[in-house]
Amino acid sequence: MDIIYHAESRQFHLTNDQVSYIIGILPNGEPGQLYFGARIPDSKDRSYLINREFRAMMVGMPDQEDFSLEMNRREYPSFGTSDLRLPAYEVLSSNGSHVSCPVYDSHEILKGKPDLPGLPALYTEDEEEAKTLLLTLKDPVNGMEIVLSYTIFRDYPVISRSVFFKNGGKEELRIERALSISLDLPDHDYVWMQFSGAWGREKTPVHKKLSEGVTAIGSLRGHSSANHNPFVILRRENTDEFQGEALGMALIYSGNFLAQAEVDTYGTTRLMLGIHPDRFSWILKPGEGFQTPEAVLVHTAAGLNGLSQTLHSLYRKRLSRGYWKERPRPILLNNWEATLMDFTEESILKIAGKGKEAGIELFVLDDGWFGARDDDTKGLGDWYVNKAKLPGGIEGLAEKIHGMGMKFGLWVEPEMVNPDSDLYRAHPDWVLAAPGRPRSLGRHQMVLDMTREDVQEYLYERLHATILEGKIDYIKWDMNRTISECFSALKAPEEQGKVYHQYILAVYRLYERLIGDFPELLFESCASGGSRLDAGMLYYAPQAWGSDDTDAVERMRIQYGTSYGYPISSVGSHVSECPNQQTGRNCPITTRGNVAYFGTFGFELDLNKLTDEEFEEVKKQVAFMKQYRELIQGGRFYRLASPFTGNQCAWMVVSEDRSRAVFAFYRSLCRVNPGRKRVKLAGLDADRLYKAEGREYYGGELMEIGWEVTSAPSWDPEKDGDFYSRVIVLEG
Ligand code: GLA
Repeated sequence: MDIIYHAESRQFHLTNDQVSYIIGILPNGEPGQLYFGARIPDSKDRSYLINREFRAMMVGMPDQEDFSLEMNRREYPSFGTSDLRLPAYEVLSSNGSHVSCPVYDSHEILKGKPDLPGLPALYTEDEEEAKTLLLTLKDPVNGMEIVLSYTIFRDYPVISRSVFFKNGGKEELRIERALSISLDLPDHDYVWMQFSGAWGREKTPVHKKLSEGVTAIGSLRGHSSANHNPFVILRRENTDEFQGEALGMALIYSGNFLAQAEVDTYGTTRLMLGIHPDRFSWILKPGEGFQTPEAVLVHTAAGLNGLSQTLHSLYRKRLSRGYWKERPRPILLNNWEATLMDFTEESILKIAGKGKEAGIELFVLDDGWFGARDDDTKGLGDWYVNKAKLPGGIEGLAEKIHGMGMKFGLWVEPEMVNPDSDLYRAHPDWVLAAPGRPRSLGRHQMVLDMTREDVQEYLYERLHATILEGKIDYIKWDMNRTISECFSALKAPEEQGKVYHQYILAVYRLYERLIGDFPELLFESCASGGSRLDAGMLYYAPQAWGSDDTDAVERMRIQYGTSYGYPISSVGSHVSECPNQQTGRNCPITTRGNVAYFGTFGFELDLNKLTDEEFEEVKKQVAFMKQYRELIQGGRFYRLASPFTGNQCAWMVVSEDRSRAVFAFYRSLCRVNPGRKRVKLAGLDADRLYKAEGREYYGGELMEIGWEVTSAPSWDPEKDGDFYSRVIVLEG
């Protein structure tokens, strides 16, 4: 891994044994993108990749009319000179001009990777793991300085990028757009993949062939959202899960975002990602700076599984932090679907007690433990225990759960308030609201103005005290509505463009303070399920509740879709009751377990209501997960058969040394008298013998011949029925 600078040609080559990223200084003095892709040998000069030509209607440089930025690939495109494609940033000068064209000023090559204060970011554990290039550009007219940061990692086909703006001039400048990354590609033969959905059906892969014009997704909801995720893939048309070229771009950020690919009429593609420019503006007084979030760029020649595996390992090892980052996650029991808010200490202890009997390690008390919170119309914001339900307080209940030998976890939703709450009655000005306009409600609640110091201090004090008193081991941090009427009462009119970003920075800050105080606390982030499941949150909370939809068939799709961008160890997945509360569907408890294993695993039902047979199955599932969770949560995950294209789903996890694997397949609806069908396994050692289901197979035969998943009719309704699934352990 190295960053090579060729002084004569003024070119930079960021390379490791998998990828190359080459930057050259263009004739107008700004950095241009010469190559990004699979590693190529270093060369002193690749200026032949800079285009010079005359075209009708083309605009060129004043003194070199054959050089147009529009015909070249740029590193961080501005708007308004000779390139009129969409820009990565825009700065408004005090004279009203949007034109800017900063040029290369200097550069620095550092070992390792600097932190981004206040923002989530990839990190290194020792400085030999990565190198960082800081390219400083200066605009000679308005004084704006822009530092483009590029980190190349030794062990990953990954470049991470971010941008720092500094007003080095004498007048106020307003940043109106500041994306984190822009990548100009020489062609547009790509299929764009986005991960879209809504509450309860998060992260469905959507494929679109790129063509002239703009393909874009984003969020203006104040959080990354379930509708679209800040992660996109460009794959070649013939790329599949196992082979072919693809590149992925992800934003390490949880607020508003824009992901966009613009194909121009010459067939090139500009791919970019960052904070959504709508409703964003940031005034910089002389000397002030602004840091964008970080974006990750990953390249693979090994298909979509290769791309996902890179992100899984990178996020697990160099984004998630702290005590829990690579520890097997505790098997939990959550009371939400069992009781909703209707519980007493006695009923909770009864559920927890049964959990203990099943081998559960962590009991989580969900919504309803505080204030007058008997339903979702009231109490939110009043983070004081409801003594009618829990006479001994949180500490009393926690002590009893701890006494049973389990960890104790608690639900909170710090960012929100019900109008019917003591908090709102005392501080109606603490919410985000547009002056003189109605305050929209979502789930009967409003969003607190997290940018205010007084709000932050109140929340910090309440959370800190509750965690301390109850010796809480786990926090489920929920966020159940989108931001509307985004206006902060304490800010001047020209500062309102900062609110969305400062909101999310304040959420990060609150997490950071609590992590600092309680380093062994396990956080699970949640936003009505997967409405804020993004790389930014993984820096603070190593796991996120994947979806409020706990139906096993639905979950197959959600977990499959989520796995494109996120490690399975980061996705909360529970066995819940049947008929399922979201779909009304009945699935065998085995299949509910077989899906939930491929995540953090837990239960969300009243175990007392199960039949003896079902309870025995629960005990088996807990024992199975205890035995295999290190392999499942830490191994290499392969998607094998997509539930989005057929009646079946299959995936597997292989240990790093390829000696063990767990393979799972699921069939939604039963077909009568089907043909025989096999699924080919992946990632095994071809010459190794693996024991599975009482016989031995070579890895090679399992990968080339496959495992039979439908056979002749068995006449056994258990095997032929709907929602059938199997999990097979391979021991080599
Ligand atoms: C959200 C969460 C659920 C549950 C409820 C409680 O919907 O996603 O898991 O915690 O809130 O109100």
